[in-house]
Amino acid sequence: MKLKFLVLVAAGAVFAAGAVSAQDVDTFVKNKCLICHDVEKKKMGAPFKESSAKYAANANAVAELLPKLKDGKDGHPKVAGSDEELKAALGKALSYK
Ligand code: HEC
Repeated sequence: MKLKFLVLVAAGAVFAAGAVSAQDVDTFVKNKCLICHDVEKKKMGAPFKESSAKYAANANAVAELLPKLKDGKDGHPKVAGSDEELKAALGKALSYK
């Protein structure tokens, strides 16, 4: 529960910064992430629920994953978007339980 709280706080911080609205995040995730990912099932990439469980204990998960998506590193294809959009999308992806 405490970890879930931390994830929500982290996501809240992103939204509070006013960079990307919750609706924009949903659209971004739908257009840019769900091409290769699904929340429940394995597609080209891992299901978001699985990644969320994998990174549940890692408070720096979003910061650590950002360069992978941004620059296309460590086996992750490069995803176009601003840092704010990618961070918000990662926060969303890791919020699925
Ligand atoms: C072109 C296909 C593609 C797109 C688009 C894509 N991914 Fe991925 N993703 C992958 C693949 C393939 C992997 C498995 C390789 C890896 O673990 O890095 C992966 C892995 C991941 C992981 C797990 C990384 C790990 O270390 O366990 C996360 C989280 C993730 N993607 C989030 C996202 C988010 C958020 C977006 C949208 C901003 C996104 N991905 C867009 C293909 C994609």
